[in-house]
Amino acid sequence: MYPCIEINFPKLKQNATTLLELCRNNGIDSCFLVTKMLAGDLKTASWLAQFGFTHLADSRLENLIKFKTIPLPKVLLRLPMKSEATMVVKNVDISLNSELLTIFKLNKAAIRQNKVHQIIFMFDLGDLREGHFFKDDYLETIKIIKQLVGIKLIGIGTNLTCYGGVIPTHDILKELVNIKNRIEENFHINLPIISGGNSSSIMLLLHKELPQGINNLRLGESIVLGRETAYGNKIPNTYADAFLLKAEIIEVKTKPSYPLGTIGMDAFGEVPKIKDQGLMKRALLAIGKQDILPENMQPLDSQLNIIGASSDHLILDLGTRDYQVGDIITFTINYPGLLQLMTSKYVKKTYLI
Ligand SMILES: Cc1ncc(COP(=O)(O)O)c(C=O)c1O
Repeated sequence: MYPCIEINFPKLKQNATTLLELCRNNGIDSCFLVTKMLAGDLKTASWLAQFGFTHLADSRLENLIKFKTIPLPKVLLRLPMKSEATMVVKNVDISLNSELLTIFKLNKAAIRQNKVHQIIFMFDLGDLREGHFFKDDYLETIKIIKQLVGIKLIGIGTNLTCYGGVIPTHDILKELVNIKNRIEENFHINLPIISGGNSSSIMLLLHKELPQGINNLRLGESIVLGRETAYGNKIPNTYADAFLLKAEIIEVKTKPSYPLGTIGMDAFGEVPKIKDQGLMKRALLAIGKQDILPENMQPLDSQLNIIGASSDHLILDLGTRDYQVGDIITFTINYPGLLQLMTSKYVKKTYLI
């Protein structure tokens, strides 16, 4: 059935083991497997979970509930909504937090459920998404958290290169270690998890520049696409094509490349900019922008060019290639493409095991 996304398990294993080894060699003693881009796909998450990750982390509670049977502690990556506090405490071992109002709600839910909910308190070191801004006083907030009997503060963390594109450096992450030291000294406690970010921190490991004291990372894209996300470089000994998209040709015709008539808007309300290249052999594929945006996919056959897409159709310039109706075209995909494809119910999943 097409379109489908083909998931290559041996390649994913190679990516996971390479990254886990890199982490081990750089003082990272707990590594979270981030599964959000799997959109709840239990088979792939279960496969990846066996190679040595210490926790399974996802931004959506629904996915963590689907992964209940996977024998790793579950971490909610996105700050919990106050409205989901009861369900978070029920289904999740650890959540990342920055808001006292939500932490109070988690505390109440934990007490009611006779549990202690673990939290990692997030600091914003400049990327300006989630977290307590590092320049603001935080000791008072930590003091309040320490008094909550349903909450256990098990660590602090930061997230970079998500909104502001800020690249993690030794000095930026050192700030997190300084915060840890200050909290530990003030409250005479031990914070076991100091979480130094996501796949954008991999460069620091490769260059041996991770500050001592950072002992946790939360890795997603580097595992599934073999890419560090500070500069977009490929990580040695990993695969970028563990996920491939396959789509079927439904029409092959030679037509003018420039539309005939007065040009208004395309199906997405934009005025198309089309170059006249004379007659062109074109293929129409049964996949469209509802499944994946064309800029997020690339044909494996380098002679083929994507020239456009509407919601259900993709148009390829076949050049001199001799494809027929019913042939399958394979594409590599990037991270936004993977997210969209895995989320679409119209895209089937096949597994190379
Ligand atoms: C808080 C948090 N940590 C870690 C990650 C993983 O990021 P990456 O896929 O770049 O490794 C994400 C995003 O998925 C996130 O939101």
